[in-house]
Amino acid sequence: MQKSELNRGQFLKQLGMSSKALMAFYCMGTLAACSSDDGVEPQGNNNPGGQQGTSNAIVGNSTGSNINFTLDLTDANFSKLKTDGAFDYAGDVIIANVGSESYIALSKKCPHQGTSVEYRKDNNDFRCPNHGSEFATSGAVTKSPAGSGLTVFKVVLSADKNTLSISA
Ligand code: FES
Repeated sequence: MQKSELNRGQFLKQLGMSSKALMAFYCMGTLAACSSDDGVEPQGNNNPGGQQGTSNAIVGNSTGSNINFTLDLTDANFSKLKTDGAFDYAGDVIIANVGSESYIALSKKCPHQGTSVEYRKDNNDFRCPNHGSEFATSGAVTKSPAGSGLTVFKVVLSADKNTLSISA
């Protein structure tokens, strides 16, 4: 291997420094969080809410204009959706449990400036926390400043109640 192909860790190891010494060397100068002997960043889920489609619980397309995916409600990231009044995000979609094992899925981005809307159990509607736009479960605007509504998606709960199929 040519020297130009060595990364910093390999180079320092060739100088005789142990992994522990390497970690101390890395951390000393930067005060950055160091948690791995091999320099590989940990692959933990930094998105426990299951947003942005990072979870294996989402299969299919949960972003863009062709929404069509399934959501595993037994996955730890989404199991809270089995609770009446709970809501969560999968990609570009907000899913709300509106009670009696019924679910609603809408586009999550407020048409005003793109903030993710939230479900309000007590009002059975959706509200944008940014400037206060409100939307009915039909997606229609009930309070401005949003000038247009949210897109409603079709939601089917599987017979075993463990999977949602969401599509345009
Ligand atoms: S971004 Fe939603 S009301 Fe402004």
